[in-house]
Amino acid sequence: MKIIVDSRENIDKIVADAVAGFVAEKQDAKLAFAAGETSKAIYSELSKTDVNFKNTEVFNICDYLGLAPDDERKCANTLERELYSKLGIENIHSPEGETDEDAEQYDKNIDDAGGIDLMLLGIGLNGHVGFNEPATLYDTHTHIARLTDNTKRMKAELFGGEENVPDFGITMGLKTICNAKNVFLVAYGEEKAEIIHKLVYGKTSTYVPAAMLQMHMSFTLYLDEAAASKLN
Ligand code: GLP
Repeated sequence: MKIIVDSRENIDKIVADAVAGFVAEKQDAKLAFAAGETSKAIYSELSKTDVNFKNTEVFNICDYLGLAPDDERKCANTLERELYSKLGIENIHSPEGETDEDAEQYDKNIDDAGGIDLMLLGIGLNGHVGFNEPATLYDTHTHIARLTDNTKRMKAELFGGEENVPDFGITMGLKTICNAKNVFLVAYGEEKAEIIHKLVYGKTSTYVPAAMLQMHMSFTLYLDEAAASKLN
């Protein structure tokens, strides 16, 4: 695990440059991006690049279930608005299905494409990545996930109240995520310091799903000073 700590402004630029540099070297890269507050400014920086992203293929990591297809709060629509439309990315896939059996087809689609070359994750306050909530088994493929109250509280502002946050999401599984060849995870703010401490030093238990990334051979953790404040 490589850990890079800097100001939030600098990390936004460092991560955007790292993603653009990756695609400059591999123009047909298979990519996966997280939606959320953390990545907004990164995508704004990345949208300024003159690297050609038109030959990339993206696989969205997760989404809320039960929203209308054009609901702007859907992760797919957020990513389209904030990133894909600005970079001219058109080869876009999203996890679909109402059952785990349907959802698992997404893993086959990823495998058929040759696997994810680079994935950019955020992290939930309870250690979730995508919508892999605590106690998600490590060998999970894309599946339907019940959102925890912790996650609903975290997303209450986006939905105008915890009670409006969807009960379920669909998400790449931990196995799907860890099969990515290169993984970046970005976290900002004091509120994420505790879960980052658990990610870095915690035992690899399903209690902190992101801790599975400790074993990933090409995992880079990007933090601002506040999120890194509990790392010695
Ligand atoms: C959400 C998303 C994750 C995201 C995480 C952190 O639940 N499913 O993909 O990384 O929460 O979001 P934020 O960056 O807004 O803190």
